[in-house]
Amino acid sequence: MESYHISGGKTLEGEYRLKGAKNAVLPILAATIISGRTSRIKNCPRLSDIRTMMAILEEMGCGVSWDGSDILVDSSPVNSFRIPQKLMKEIRSSVFLMGPTLARCGQVILSDPGGCAIGKRPIDIHLAALRLLGVDIAEKDGLLECRAKSLKGAVIPLSFPSVGATENVMMAAVMAEGETRILNPAKEPEIVDLQNYLTSCGADITGAGTEEIRIIGGLPLHETEYEPIPDRIEAGTILTAAAAVRGKVLLKGAAPEHMDSVLDCLEESGCKIWRQDHSVYLEASSPLKAVKPIETRPYPGFPTDMQSQFMALMCLAEGTTEITEAIFENRFKHVAELNRMGARIRIAGKTAMIEGVESLRGQRVTAADLRGGAALVIAGLAAEGDTIVENISHIDRGYDRLEDILTGLGARIERVVEP
Ligand code: EPU
Repeated sequence: MESYHISGGKTLEGEYRLKGAKNAVLPILAATIISGRTSRIKNCPRLSDIRTMMAILEEMGCGVSWDGSDILVDSSPVNSFRIPQKLMKEIRSSVFLMGPTLARCGQVILSDPGGCAIGKRPIDIHLAALRLLGVDIAEKDGLLECRAKSLKGAVIPLSFPSVGATENVMMAAVMAEGETRILNPAKEPEIVDLQNYLTSCGADITGAGTEEIRIIGGLPLHETEYEPIPDRIEAGTILTAAAAVRGKVLLKGAAPEHMDSVLDCLEESGCKIWRQDHSVYLEASSPLKAVKPIETRPYPGFPTDMQSQFMALMCLAEGTTEITEAIFENRFKHVAELNRMGARIRIAGKTAMIEGVESLRGQRVTAADLRGGAALVIAGLAAEGDTIVENISHIDRGYDRLEDILTGLGARIERVVEP
């Protein structure tokens, strides 16, 4: 088991160039199956979730390789519509393979996806939407067997703007006959990015990021080179860490326009932020103060993927901050660990009340999920004394060697293999 050993109290200063967004790269890799051609996906982070997605594509017959920081996928030799069960259980985003495999093969067999244990995470919205496209879905021996004689364009109203369901429908509809309209879709920047990748292959999709996405299916697709958007959650995590240790950090290759809700909260907490076309700079020299109540929401609301990191920051702010987690039911596992470090957080249902304290103290803590793990690292950087964060395989799902990023900015953090 690997852990982070952190010596707290060092500030963060310097610059860092962001990598492509995990939550953009994963669905785009799944979408590479559709074209039956070659896709070069640029500036990808080396994350365990991405390695698992690459392994799944390989098992389905694709040629998959790294070329520097680009991933090359040749999907012409796809020879299977079965998503390998063991790999499926390793990552939640394996569910994104339903739409593309249906588009390419007309059928897909899969089990329930795995991923971070942050809530029930059902896939009912995905299944209801795919049924409207003409897919028959049966459950047999714990496996979902999905088949479509032919995919037919349809009007698909989503009961909730689920990111994954929106992406699955977009990918399946690219090969459906006629027009598909997705109503109440997710509007996250990663949805727009998937649209841009698919149109770079020759698909006809418009409206991503708005109230309605339209897809004209059945066009021939071709090879492509595509660079996904920068990771707004990696960016938010580094800026929040810098804020917690009164640092000064410049993020290059950023898209601050995707991060308004988080940057606004950082500003409200007393940090100075400069937003430019492809960079964002944070300077935290004034005392940190509590912010108005935050509730996680679909984009452009405050992202659930930044809730735990921002909570770690608010532990050190003057005053009390109220944070409500409205997307996932079980995304407060970091709270008990932060409290063991001296934080004062009370939970009532979906809401956490964070009463700021003067300082946190180093402690041995355990990451229970990806973003909660990042929150513990932030707390450890700001704490007095040494912190050990155990179970960092969760953190490796979403950050490409977080210790290297932070060490490059002046932190003292080391990856240690513990017996
Ligand atoms: N939901 C349903 N039924 C469905 C689908 C979703 O009830 O069929 C519920 C979920 O249980 C959850 C809510 O709707 O309570 C939102 O789920 P959504 O489908 O939007 O999320 P996702 O596609 O599973 C992606 C990201 C998550 C991120 C969420 C919300 C990827 C690979 N994952 O998940 O990222 O939290 O959108 O923005 O894109 C992370 O990076 O740490 C992470 C968990």
